[in-house]
Amino acid sequence: MSRRPEVRCVEEEGPLGKLIIVPKGLENVVPDTTAISGVDPKGEHTIYRGYLITDLAENANFYEAAYLFLYGQLPCEDELREIKRKIDTYRAQVPEKLFDALKLVPATHPMYYGSFGVLFLGQYYAPEWRFDDDFLYDHALRLIAQLPVIFAAGWHLSRHGTFIRPDPGLDHPRDVLRMITGRTPSDLAARAFEVSLILYMDHGFNASTFTVRVIGSTLSDMYSAVAGGIGALKGPLHGGANEKAIEMLLDAKRRAEELGKPLEEYIEEYILEKLKRKERIMGFGHRIYKIHDPRTDVAAKYIRQLKDGEWWLKVLKRAEEVMWREKRLPANIDFYTAVLYYQLGIPVPMYTPVFAMGRVVGWTAHYIEQVKNNRLIRPTEKYVGPTGLKYRPIEERCRR
Ligand code: CMC
Repeated sequence: MSRRPEVRCVEEEGPLGKLIIVPKGLENVVPDTTAISGVDPKGEHTIYRGYLITDLAENANFYEAAYLFLYGQLPCEDELREIKRKIDTYRAQVPEKLFDALKLVPATHPMYYGSFGVLFLGQYYAPEWRFDDDFLYDHALRLIAQLPVIFAAGWHLSRHGTFIRPDPGLDHPRDVLRMITGRTPSDLAARAFEVSLILYMDHGFNASTFTVRVIGSTLSDMYSAVAGGIGALKGPLHGGANEKAIEMLLDAKRRAEELGKPLEEYIEEYILEKLKRKERIMGFGHRIYKIHDPRTDVAAKYIRQLKDGEWWLKVLKRAEEVMWREKRLPANIDFYTAVLYYQLGIPVPMYTPVFAMGRVVGWTAHYIEQVKNNRLIRPTEKYVGPTGLKYRPIEERCRR
């Protein structure tokens, strides 16, 4: 059920043969196949390598899910031990020089630490980049392990000059949450965080993953590709939406308090005002999920168990009712993780970096799939600018 007018492809003759004009934003365009993740034929469920995302988020741990993405099946015991050993070891092996360099990055949005840090690491490996399996999988695991350390260290270093070092003795999600918040999380908090990372790991040819594949298709290195993915994810129409969603909810909460109204009721008035001003409600709408984003159900289960969970769910559900009634748009995962990360005490500007800490698993798997069966991704434009202009010197062309 698309809100846009009909989307369809048109064929026309171009200077180099037949052109296929596809819908703007590439909606419903299939540029390649993938065996990594996608949506079932009804568009209701996301599938990770054959498994429902909800099944894996409920039952798998971070290492099992990462193994599944990279190697195509769930691990046996020895394989699980080995991927855990590697991720935990690499987490503690970020070069000291990178921490020194992060001190120099201005304290703006922390997504910049990610792209900066990843490119810094790439300087070590990119000059001798190779495409054999051992090399590619090893660097995928390094990126998965080290990206969260870069974000957490950058965030703390740029603010107070110190950071929390990784502890390879802790499980990856627990250690990462500890490095971000500075507190050892409870079992429930660590699991809620781990589940959110799994929910974020991949989603077909989403904008950042497609960016990674485009860069990979030039046979550039994995670090450059992941840095590009981080840049794409940062935008508010993609991963940046979880930060914008909590900012909106907290703004609504403040106003509701000023007016002495319960937020779970006031949220309706607040959203209607925004819609009247033609503003987008962040955390709603999705290119693929037009009716319901199943990832929100899994996140809701953890929201319910954390601080003020029942109350937050009332607010979220009311907002969903209003948005469905007014715009026929469902809430997406970012509306729910916005609240979940607030409950976990994660600083708001770190929400999108956390999305990247999960999505890096998908990015690296897609990079590998792309380079192993590669063709340069290079569409053709339809030029609609002027033609036939002739160069004139500046003194002639600027005479007014
Ligand atoms: N609030 C209000 N109106 C909306 C929203 C929204 N969140 N999303 C779409 N619309 C309207 C839009 O104004 C347009 O209306 P009209 O046809 O009257 O001009 C119509 O719905 C179609 O919008 P679109 O931008 O063409 O749809 P799209 O499929 O290109 O956009 C989207 C998908 C996710 C970019 C969009 O829904 C959006 O901007 N949502 C808010 C940002 C957000 O939550 N992003 C996270 C996406 S899920 C996690 C991820 O993958 O990163």
